[in-house]
Amino acid sequence: MRNQISNFIKNVPKAELHLHIEGTLEPELMFKLAKRNNIFIPYKNVEEVKSAYKFKNLDSFLDIYYQSSKVLITEEDFFDLTWAYLLKCKEDNIVHTEIFFDPQAHIDRGVSFEIIINGINNALKKANFEFGISSKIIMCFLRHLEEDSGFNVLNDAIKHKDKIIGVGLDSSEIGNPPKKFEKLFNKAIEEGFLTVAHAGEEGPPEYIWDCINLLKVKRIDHGVQCLKDDKLVEELIKKQIPLTVCPLSNVKLCVFDNLKNHNLKKMLIRGLRVMVNSDDPAYFGGYLNQNLIETHLALNLKLEDIKNLIINSFKSSFLDDDKKNEWIEKIN
Ligand code: HPA
Ligand code: ZN
Repeated sequence: MRNQISNFIKNVPKAELHLHIEGTLEPELMFKLAKRNNIFIPYKNVEEVKSAYKFKNLDSFLDIYYQSSKVLITEEDFFDLTWAYLLKCKEDNIVHTEIFFDPQAHIDRGVSFEIIINGINNALKKANFEFGISSKIIMCFLRHLEEDSGFNVLNDAIKHKDKIIGVGLDSSEIGNPPKKFEKLFNKAIEEGFLTVAHAGEEGPPEYIWDCINLLKVKRIDHGVQCLKDDKLVEELIKKQIPLTVCPLSNVKLCVFDNLKNHNLKKMLIRGLRVMVNSDDPAYFGGYLNQNLIETHLALNLKLEDIKNLIINSFKSSFLDDDKKNEWIEKIN
């Protein structure tokens, strides 16, 4: 049965909705780009990089994540980064992916918005043409920065509306509440962008409430802290607001001490619209299939549970309804 479920996971068409493209930078590519761009990185070899990937919380990860992102300079770098992830998608049979990017992490180093968006978008177009993988791009605002800086990149994004479906909110959660970005999100909505936000990864349920009420989000990224608030759970179920859960990420960042203690199964049983995603797979120990397989083993998820998770990911995607239904029928 275990093998049967693992095979099902590997072979079924899947969607991924919570994936930071910068978080797919594998150490090998990091070295290659560092050399190509003559950038210093504080590691001697891949083993040394991997042994630095021991995190005690979100912030301790973000320090390393932003530091490593500094090797990304040219359009070709962003293309290569995205293409490497798309090859993983092909391997994992991910047929649709909605990826985040963090322009402020690069613009502040002198890289232009155009270089970033064109590199990413060209790789996505090529994967659509060659592998039939569909995709959407979501631009994230860094919540540790001020709202003004967010308005600057929103103005850039407006020029690239044809490529960017929505905006999100990531980086250091605690102390940077959603209400800090209420005006920015309202402006983004006025401009026609859909909104999502990281909330309830480490932060309290109130941040999830504020994302729903103030930022008008279509999905909550992570959201695992919601079970601390029964009224919130009721609201999330009633409105069927998707929660893009990332199990291996949550263990790596010590949100749960062990995958066996993850609350995904509880959330699923309560009727929350949850699914599994990989977040920053180069840092957290695996891509989407690895997340699904390890979670299935740790939480004893049944075939029906896995099917529900995967159907939820298509239902919660920004694909149009016909396309969603087509994939869901295939899975059933
Ligand atoms: N949380 C917040 N910000 C992030 C993450 C995350 O898991 N990954 C990359 N930026
Ligand atoms: Zn994330």
